[in-house]
Amino acid sequence: MPIPPEDHIFVDDVKKSFGQTHVIHGITMHLRRQETAVIIGGSGAGKTTLLRMLIGLERPSSGHIWVDGEDMSALDDYEMNRMRQKFGMMFQYAALLDSLTVFDNVAFPLREHKKNMTEKEIRDRVVRMLNGLGIMNKEERMPSELSGGQRKRVGLARALMLDPEILIYDEPTSGLDPLTSRMVDDLIEETRAKFNITSVVISHDMASTFRIAHQAFLVVHGKVIAHGKPDELAFGENEEARNFIKASGIAADRIRRVDSSKGGTAI
Ligand SMILES: Nc1ncnc2c1ncn2[C@@H]1O[C@H](COP(=O)(O)OP(=O)(O)O)[C@@H](O)[C@H]1O
Ligand SMILES: [Mg+2]
Repeated sequence: MPIPPEDHIFVDDVKKSFGQTHVIHGITMHLRRQETAVIIGGSGAGKTTLLRMLIGLERPSSGHIWVDGEDMSALDDYEMNRMRQKFGMMFQYAALLDSLTVFDNVAFPLREHKKNMTEKEIRDRVVRMLNGLGIMNKEERMPSELSGGQRKRVGLARALMLDPEILIYDEPTSGLDPLTSRMVDDLIEETRAKFNITSVVISHDMASTFRIAHQAFLVVHGKVIAHGKPDELAFGENEEARNFIKASGIAADRIRRVDSSKGGTAI
């Protein structure tokens, strides 16, 4: 079957079991280039397992994951490493190393993967990226001296260091107050537009989903039971999807996607 060229990632009937435990029961998803896909679902639904397969940390028990038209399941370890460089990861709580300065946190991927860069080239690139994300003169600070929003920006700078095509965000707004969460939504949308990035976001935050998603996928017991624009899930045919969104308590008819062309808010 030909893969649609607009699919950056095509998850093709993927199943995953751990021993006798069947966790993913045949998931198919088309994740389009330079769009934001948000994967929603209750805890234990299989979101993290799906995410780990997307970035090649787990292999499907059956089915295929195609990235840029290449079948990840056919790759050997060397080719898988090359493939992983297409992905940037924004971990939950930004996951900065507390004992390192902001500069050393952001420089970390370059020091690991770009052994021939000079210290000066590294410094230039790190400072340019931080400044581009609105973090000025904080290179020598420790992560503990930053606000929650600033830490997110530093984590994002680090995730962008190796020029990923795809950014994966694991629960980017969890643990943040509502105002900072909305600013992180703006940041995700601005980053997508500025770097032409395809974003995949795992989220429990329904307001965030409505603000950033081009497509949302509702995962229940290892299956995608509904997908589409958030509006289509909130007001469409699928009762389970309608109820899931209603249960979050958000005013689904009042939240619109953020428009990156209008400029965002600084954290
Ligand atoms: N390595 C593993 N071995 C056995 N069971 C696992 C493993 N990883 C996840 N699971 C099980 O798979 C189910 C889905 O987990 P997970 O993908 O973490 O869900 P979510 O991220 O949606 O909360 C859970 O029941 C979990 O216990
Ligand atoms: Mg999880």
